[in-house]
Amino acid sequence: MSKVLIATEKPFAAVAVNGIKKIFDEAGFETVLLEKYTDKADLIKAVEDIDAMIIRSDKASADVIAAARNLKIIVRAGAGFDNIDIAAANEKKIVAMNTPGQNSNAVAELALGMMVFMARAQFKGGSGSELKGKKLGIHAFGYVGKYVAKIAKGFGMELYAYDPFIDKSVIENEGVIALNSEEELYSTCQYISLHIPANEKTKKSINYNLLSKMPKGATLVNTARKEVVDEDSLKKILEERQDFKYISDIAPDCHAEIADKFENRYYATPKKQGAETSEANINAGLAAANQIVGFLKKGISTFQVNKF
Ligand code: 3PG
Repeated sequence: MSKVLIATEKPFAAVAVNGIKKIFDEAGFETVLLEKYTDKADLIKAVEDIDAMIIRSDKASADVIAAARNLKIIVRAGAGFDNIDIAAANEKKIVAMNTPGQNSNAVAELALGMMVFMARAQFKGGSGSELKGKKLGIHAFGYVGKYVAKIAKGFGMELYAYDPFIDKSVIENEGVIALNSEEELYSTCQYISLHIPANEKTKKSINYNLLSKMPKGATLVNTARKEVVDEDSLKKILEERQDFKYISDIAPDCHAEIADKFENRYYATPKKQGAETSEANINAGLAAANQIVGFLKKGISTFQVNKF
């Protein structure tokens, strides 16, 4: 009997866990649940004899992968798989997958909510501004970027996007102006919403050169990954420009340095919550479970993100 671990330091909604268990029950698999763990040793112990695992932002690091004697597949219930050590997975020929698109609407709704929050002086009182008529730059036009465009249209924002990996016609079909470079996007738009993955090319890529190009009244919204923003550049621009605002779904490493100093122009969620909706948990969790069943029973490898 195949044994599947659901390892979620930040648990799925109960309705999603029940749905996942049902899928595994019907497949004849055993489900093991490890939630809210605080010690990596608990994860290392839990993976020892499992065949598959579902994770969220949990770290499938080299030592976790090394401890998993029977592991054949890891599914990241979500989009970003920067938390999986792909080299370690490749070495043991373990399939890694994500569930693209499944939690994207939740993240997009949060991105727009964050824009409103910053535009309205963090709901602290006092006069704010409106999103209507403002230029929004969508940095990367994957699933989340596309949902952001759809929702922002309702606010009456002017939409621009830059994504070197997506054909311009795909962007323009959504009523969004496709620009030619990051520089052009940042110099055009007062609001920038980040939707790039964290990888060797993108880490620290949102730097002073780009941020300093943003027009007056700039707001950078980060529901992607903290690592893509260069924190020295962030501190410098917050220091230099009284009009610059930053809101992030998960605190940057320099949080303590900037939290009080720029309290009216900076906000970070205490725990990443872009995908924290029961709808997103159900969509991504059930997709992950179905992908595991498809792979272990039929060898279906759609959404595999590694090659070995
Ligand atoms: C993702 O990459 O899908 C999001 O960042 C969601 O992460 P989470 O599952 O840890 O909330």
